[in-house]
Amino acid sequence: MLEKDSVPLTLENMGNKALRALLEKVDQKLLAEADFKETTDILVLELQKDERLLWACYEYGYDALFNLFSYTDLQERIATNTIRVRNEIIHSGQASEDSISQLNLGCGNGTQEYMLHQKLVPIHNITAMDISPEMIASAQAKYPEVNYKVHDLNINFPPFIQNHSVHIATIVNTMEFTNTPIQLLLKVNRALKDGGILITSTPKQESAKVVLNIIRYELQRRGIPSEEENVHVLANKLIKNLENPEEKRKLFVNLLCNLCFVKEGIKVKHFLEDDLQNLFHHTGFKIECTESSYAGEYVITKARKIATIHQN
Ligand SMILES: C[S@@+](CC[C@H](N)C(=O)[O-])C[C@H]1O[C@@H](n2cnc3c(N)ncnc32)[C@H](O)[C@@H]1O
Repeated sequence: MLEKDSVPLTLENMGNKALRALLEKVDQKLLAEADFKETTDILVLELQKDERLLWACYEYGYDALFNLFSYTDLQERIATNTIRVRNEIIHSGQASEDSISQLNLGCGNGTQEYMLHQKLVPIHNITAMDISPEMIASAQAKYPEVNYKVHDLNINFPPFIQNHSVHIATIVNTMEFTNTPIQLLLKVNRALKDGGILITSTPKQESAKVVLNIIRYELQRRGIPSEEENVHVLANKLIKNLENPEEKRKLFVNLLCNLCFVKEGIKVKHFLEDDLQNLFHHTGFKIECTESSYAGEYVITKARKIATIHQN
């Protein structure tokens, strides 16, 4: 299992504050009296209202989730693809190892930077953005050399990202959360140099179902009782037992898995093969290769910018 040099989980952690914020939003009396179904419904409803709070909460358990599922394989494949592209750029004399310009969009708490850093790739020329201040704070604390920015990908990139300046862009499991993926890829098209590479990972089907399948598989494998029972016990423990960070971390992971995915707490787009072909085609990219990952439920795509698309 992957060891991750994550920030220790303490009561002072931002994610923990977000978790408290979630719990505080809910009527405590109502929660104390709720059965399993009502408890999850109450918390899901609260998370559905506030996507930023959801990601803030998510940050708290993100590294634990990363270790729990077959997410490592997916992240490894993306890092391997990125390194291959970096080597091509260096060998063709377009840039040196130190000057390759990279964008990581929806970077979360720095998983890709972690992967590259582990593989001794210089990461100081990476600009990485995410909508969640909690994710960014966690990533920046781990990798101060990376240019991390809180940014909503639904709006234009910040001006410091110049047109035709970027060699490689990655969007790992984030495109599906944006309002219009086509607009996002048009912005990436503008930022990339001619011939620049975009590497993405996206769910093939409704992500809720995908993740539910993976969770069921992982719970089964570990002999953990059915997730419905877990949520019921966990949600109640969470409220009553706030002073044990280690236990809380475990509870939190289970709770979020159930809250966010089983109950479809957030709207997630999914991309069939034709969707991806059209999306990349209409935004000036040519898909060079695709591969499956994450229990076969996600598709990793490597595409090259073959045309500059001018928007009105
Ligand atoms: C499933 S996580 C993936 C994070 C990271 N790429 C990884 O693979 O670990 C999705 C990320 O998308 C971010 N996100 C969601 N909507 C966004 C938006 N509109 N702009 C920027 N980031 C967004 C979330 O904050 C979250 O960190």
